[in-house]
Amino acid sequence: MSLVQWTSFPPLGDERGSLVALESGKTIPFPIERVYYLFGTVSGQSRGFHAHRILQQVAVCVTGRCRMVLDNGEQREEVWLDSPTKGLLIGNMVWREMHDFTSDCVLLVLASQHYDEADYIRNYEDFLRNVKNG
Ligand code: TYD
Repeated sequence: MSLVQWTSFPPLGDERGSLVALESGKTIPFPIERVYYLFGTVSGQSRGFHAHRILQQVAVCVTGRCRMVLDNGEQREEVWLDSPTKGLLIGNMVWREMHDFTSDCVLLVLASQHYDEADYIRNYEDFLRNVKNG
């Protein structure tokens, strides 16, 4: 099964412009406990390089684009986030890296838990060990 799973956000636009609403249990498959966004990412700077033990996330580029690499320890896939109407589902125990941010990129992330540094795995070898040991 592909690691790349999208959730579509139907635009509720009219002649004035577009609008997207995100709702838990509808387009977002978990109760939203936290929202954060990355912006002003320095040109050439990559981010991420971690996995989460239990956290689930949906990432959407509301403007601009970036390249997301997902890796579950067995397969690695990459995808461009470049649409405000498409969210990328990122499950727990998935290593993620974000590259090639455009200067206008605003990457919005919806998360299933509050921030908890103990939920992070920031070392790739530790991540592979955790995947192997279930
Ligand atoms: P980090 O998760 O390392 O960013 P990225 O994976 O996008 O490169 O977070 C950067 C810093 O911000 C780090 O010191 C932790 C802090 N942080 C919070 O305090 N709350 C949050 O919700 C997030 C995502 C990060």
